Amino acid sequence: FPLQRFNTFGLAARARRYLRVLDAGQLERLHADAALAALPRFVLGGGSNVLLTRDVDALVLHMAIAGRAVVGEEHGAVLVRAGAGESWHGFVGYTLDQGLGGLENLSLIPGTVGAAPIQNIGAYGLEIKDVFHSLTVFDPASGSRRTMRGEDCRFGYRDSIFKHPEGAGLIVLDVTFALPRAWQPNLRYAELARELDAAGVLQPTPRQVSDTVVAIRRRKLPDPLEIGNAGSFFKNPVVTQAQCEALLARHPQLVHHSQPDGSEKLAAGWLIDQCGWKGKGIGAAGVYPKQALVLVNNGGATGAEVMALARAIQDDVLQRFGVQLEPEPVFV
Ligand code: EPU
Repeated sequence: FPLQRFNTFGLAARARRYLRVLDAGQLERLHADAALAALPRFVLGGGSNVLLTRDVDALVLHMAIAGRAVVGEEHGAVLVRAGAGESWHGFVGYTLDQGLGGLENLSLIPGTVGAAPIQNIGAYGLEIKDVFHSLTVFDPASGSRRTMRGEDCRFGYRDSIFKHPEGAGLIVLDVTFALPRAWQPNLRYAELARELDAAGVLQPTPRQVSDTVVAIRRRKLPDPLEIGNAGSFFKNPVVTQAQCEALLARHPQLVHHSQPDGSEKLAAGWLIDQCGWKGKGIGAAGVYPKQALVLVNNGGATGAEVMALARAIQDDVLQRFGVQLEPEPVFV
């Protein structure tokens, strides 16, 4: 089964078996079928955070569970739920239509609701862990469903239990968010605050914040429908304060942000940019000219070319700055 349309890099890989999952009952029936249950599985959402380096020798479960609803209220927050297959950006728009703020900083992130907790998506000063309530998973080991709260998910920067062996088999069915009734704009991200300020907006509405985030993203990030990509290809590396100071002594322009625990997060895009990779590439795999952190498929790239480019960038950054870059997408 061809997966080219189902990964935002647009890489031509095939799945050994493919199942479009529209409800949890399908997973229960799958679990009851010994032959199907024995197949290796790969769960696919919007395909916006995977690098398909070759054909997927597994049963691909393409999550398409729909549904969006306001489901209750708790401690001054409105609980809103969406099925794993809903488009993330569509869901953000739905909450704004209900007059609910809280997700607007995460506007225009590609992918699905079900994939959002896997890497704890984050942008412009917000991560979903900040507005997360709970999620439902199907556990293929037991064949049953269960609810997980934030602490169960072990969210970290672009990380969660679902990226680790203990949680890797779990299949997210739906996700619930707690959106505060007493909404306040989150303008921690300097570029976002600056942009609203420049437009003369002093008390922005959730919709205005969303529109501004969309404008910033459109300026910097390629639209996967036009140029294949998976967003940031590397995580922003976290180093100790001492390492950061040593780097600053040699590179005074180094972009860094102090973390609450005293460590320093470096801008991987800046490091890659300094190595001269912007607009360059290997074969049809390239570095996006407006954001060095984004690798793109300039047309007909193979997974191997993207990997070769990623390795070359990692080598250069390691050599020049002594910093190891870690890829963000899941390699298949
Ligand atoms: N920079 C450069 N050259 C570049 C790219 C960036 O010098 O080519 C510098 C910028 O000038 C800026 C700094 O690096 O000072 C940070 O750049 P930017 O604001 O674009 O954000 P980022 O750190 O590159 C992260 C997330 C994005 C998210 C933005 C906004 C990661 C891995 N990436 O990017 O997330 O949208 O912040 O919050 O944390 C994604 O995960 O796919 C993604 C797009």
